[in-house]
Amino acid sequence: MNYESEVKARVGIIGLGAVGSAFAHAMSFFHPCVGYDIKGKGSWNEILKTQVVFICVQTPGGFDDRLDCSAVDDVLSRLTESRFQGICVVKSTVRVGYMDSAKARFPRLHLVYMPEFLREKSNFQWSVNPDRIVISGDETAVDEVLKLFSWVDGLEEIVPVLRMPFRDAEIGKLAHNAYIATKVSFTNEMERISREHGADPSSVMSVIHADRRVKSREHLRPGLGAYGGKCVPKDTRELINASHNTPLLKAVETVNENHQNFRLVVNTKPPVPQSVENRSH
Ligand SMILES: NC(=O)c1ccc[n+]([C@@H]2O[C@H](COP(=O)([O-])OP(=O)(O)OC[C@H]3O[C@@H](n4cnc5c(N)ncnc54)[C@H](O)[C@@H]3O)[C@@H](O)[C@H]2O)c1
Repeated sequence: MNYESEVKARVGIIGLGAVGSAFAHAMSFFHPCVGYDIKGKGSWNEILKTQVVFICVQTPGGFDDRLDCSAVDDVLSRLTESRFQGICVVKSTVRVGYMDSAKARFPRLHLVYMPEFLREKSNFQWSVNPDRIVISGDETAVDEVLKLFSWVDGLEEIVPVLRMPFRDAEIGKLAHNAYIATKVSFTNEMERISREHGADPSSVMSVIHADRRVKSREHLRPGLGAYGGKCVPKDTRELINASHNTPLLKAVETVNENHQNFRLVVNTKPPVPQSVENRSH
């Protein structure tokens, strides 16, 4: 597809942190873009002249151990008060059930949910070249939003575009981070057992990496890995507290939290000596 033949839309990005700034950078190659952040960047009036806004504000763990979506609420209230006519795409990770509740509370807005999966360390590359696009909302609005991504040649053939109801997308986004947390907890447990017995956790994990059924080494290397970042722990906790029955995820959380202390001890102790006898079993 020749992108030049596509109609360009004016795009707004609200919240210019790790996600918003990377996304604005990527979008600005293909569309006229304006950004706005309450920390004093950009202009709200310019946002109101756009056809689609992407909301990328923070949703930290809240007082009730669920994701605190009040910054998203603030933006949606302000867009309603400003009589914004365009499409509002929520990219922030939200608590389970948030989008349906937002739809009921902000009926004048055209809401779409499109969670972000980028990795903070290389946020621009992940923004331009996503592994998948997850999107939910009213069909017409979703189609309009997807048109903005037609820079990817044959979008739907190369990048899976997963259309689904709000609830599926909300849980899917959280489930992805909970899956990563689960992999990290497995690695953490193997590291702990290895060290208990004087084995080298990296060589233990290399036995797993070498298997063709294991697709990637990501999160299978000793260390806190993704659990050291800001999203995986809070999103896992959201999923734990969104249900009354999550024994696996509770165990995952406990293993990973205990491992933070374990790593502190390991990092301050000299390495465990490896004997030939230990290595040969
Ligand atoms: N950081 C990541 O790697 C990552 C990856 C995937 C998804 N997410 C999710 O994306 C969302 C954003 O994460 P982030 O890391 O970019 O957060 P961040 O804290 O880096 O940035 C959020 C920005 O939003 C601004 N903001 C807050 N309220 C505002 C308002 N009312 N109007 C305008 N701007 C406002 C803040 O000033 C801040 O600059 C979160 O829901 C997060 O869970 C983050």
